[in-house]
Amino acid sequence: MSKILILYYSQSGQLTEIIKNFAKPFENTDDYTVTYANIKPVTDYKFPWSGARFFDVFPESVEHIPCELETLDLGDENFDLIVFAYSVWYMSPSIPSNSFLFTDQAKRIFKDTPVITLLGVRNMWVVAQEYIKQKITDLGGNLIGNIVLRDRAENLTGIVTISYFMFSGKKGRFAWFFPKAGISEKDIQGVEKYGKIVKDYFNNNDFDNLQENLVKAKAVKINPYLSTTEQMAYKRVFTKWSKFILKKGGPGDPARKTRVRIFAWYFPFAILVIAPIEYIFFLIFAPFRLKLIKKEIKYFSGVKLKSNN
Ligand SMILES: Cc1cc2nc3c(=O)[nH]c(=O)nc-3n(C[C@H](O)[C@H](O)[C@H](O)COP(=O)(O)O)c2cc1C
Repeated sequence: MSKILILYYSQSGQLTEIIKNFAKPFENTDDYTVTYANIKPVTDYKFPWSGARFFDVFPESVEHIPCELETLDLGDENFDLIVFAYSVWYMSPSIPSNSFLFTDQAKRIFKDTPVITLLGVRNMWVVAQEYIKQKITDLGGNLIGNIVLRDRAENLTGIVTISYFMFSGKKGRFAWFFPKAGISEKDIQGVEKYGKIVKDYFNNNDFDNLQENLVKAKAVKINPYLSTTEQMAYKRVFTKWSKFILKKGGPGDPARKTRVRIFAWYFPFAILVIAPIEYIFFLIFAPFRLKLIKKEIKYFSGVKLKSNN
């Protein structure tokens, strides 16, 4: 009997629904046992968010600073496949998911084990995934597949609807002209087909072109404008703001409140003003960057790290 571990942290329950659907092909058979491990911060992040708390997690998310977690009960800690399911906060893995990768348990369970990453995000995730690829490699794990479920709304629309979702806790429509927030029910149900693909490869004990097939089945889609913007914004903007805020103190420190507030004003400005300007530049220069864009689409669709290419 093969042992599958699904590690996850979900605030709203969206990612929980995703993992349950993904795991369906592995359930109700004598060939597999599925262990669901819900990562639990000692002090959890409340959902829905208040504006102050939402922006206060920015520096620790961007700088990958872990929080304290409760120890998970993982039995004999011996698994044949790990599914690491995470959401993205500020182009970084959510703090609880990232924190797990710093634990001694992670050091023990990832070593020499095949890993699938399963993401439930809005639409900006490639920077977070690059970090996770490196982290899994450092832990001795073997990343064999990546599946990304995303909000399909157009970028600016998605920002409005996810804000409603995050601050109200409701995923429904908040005005007739806006779509429902988050990942669609159809995509959440549809993730089962990726579970089936992974199961077939797992049964054959050969993961060689698993990711290629997942990409063919549309498990990952790269939007070159978003991946370009994301990489630039993370490096040139996010890391600078995070360090600037951290100089004043850690999570919730009153001394950093003013800086967090200024960032909270800057953030929508960057999204609503700077990002559309960047989009125009992206379109103008895209014809001259076609080769690079194609290379990036191929790279970010895959599971290998740049140095191993
Ligand atoms: C603080 C915060 C920052 C977020 N930043 C991003 C982001 O940079 N990129 C993205 O695609 N989604 C982002 N999201 C959306 C999450 O990835 C995720 O889709 C949403 O929080 C629902 O996940 P859940 O299952 O944990 O509730 C962010 C969410 C939160 C709470």
